Amino acid sequence: MPEAQRISTVPHLPELPAGALLKADPAPDSLFYAEPRLVAHLDDAAIAAVTGLYREVLPAGGAILDLMSSWISHLPAEVAFSTVIGHGMNARELAANPRLSRWFVQDLNADPVLPLAADSLDAVTLCASVQYLQRPVEVLREVARVLRPGAPVVITFSNRCFPTKAVRIWQGLQGREHCALVALYLERAGFAGVEARELLSGRRSDPLWAVLGAAPGQDRSAPAGDGRGSEAGGAAGPKGGVGAAAPPSRPQRRRRAGCRAFPP
Ligand SMILES: C[S@@+](CC[C@H](N)C(=O)[O-])C[C@H]1O[C@@H](n2cnc3c(N)ncnc32)[C@H](O)[C@@H]1O
Repeated sequence: MPEAQRISTVPHLPELPAGALLKADPAPDSLFYAEPRLVAHLDDAAIAAVTGLYREVLPAGGAILDLMSSWISHLPAEVAFSTVIGHGMNARELAANPRLSRWFVQDLNADPVLPLAADSLDAVTLCASVQYLQRPVEVLREVARVLRPGAPVVITFSNRCFPTKAVRIWQGLQGREHCALVALYLERAGFAGVEARELLSGRRSDPLWAVLGAAPGQDRSAPAGDGRGSEAGGAAGPKGGVGAAAPPSRPQRRRRAGCRAFPP
């Protein structure tokens, strides 16, 4: 099936416009990530803000999955975890990451099923990467499956991206709208207590936002909303620091581009 047809008929997010989860470069992501990029994707202040949030919400001694990782995980240096599993697209980047106990490479747009046991993790982190997911609800349902009930997923992002690889809708939106979109992903995946925070405004550094959710409890048979019927367009927006916002069905008035390209 052609990619346009396959991606634009994702059943979990019917309120998004057709093609919202397409990207400019339809080639397999494995080609784009074949060469390692041993660079920072956030500036120092934004990295410090991510680390501060992790210090606040990640359980010391717990088992962590750093999904869509690279050579840095931004975990607080003074906090020990029982396991830090890394996932990404480039083996050399992951091998260079000093915080990882073990790691695996997997293209989540090709295969969203995580090779990890159910209820085995105490937190999942995902930094500067959510904009590349073309099957976000499927991936986050997998995240919910591998987390223990109530355990947090922590998704952080700024305003930079690889433009040819970020999904189309991301590039038409900006900060608070990005938060609403990610909150929608999490709610459709069954997460509870979804909360968005603006961590850095972007006036003196890279801007930074976080969207957090808690893995559902014992009864995981019916995630909160399957994206059909009366729910279309009606999911609650994020709670917390950035206020509620309806999930965007089209780009709202743009004050700046939603996605600045990384320097080459
Ligand atoms: C900008 S980097 C962010 C890396 C790291 N989380 C950080 O904070 O520096 C984007 C990452 O998204 C991940 N990624 C991109 N496309 C992916 C895909 N199709 N499947 C799985 N991971 C992907 C890769 O691990 C890549 O390193």
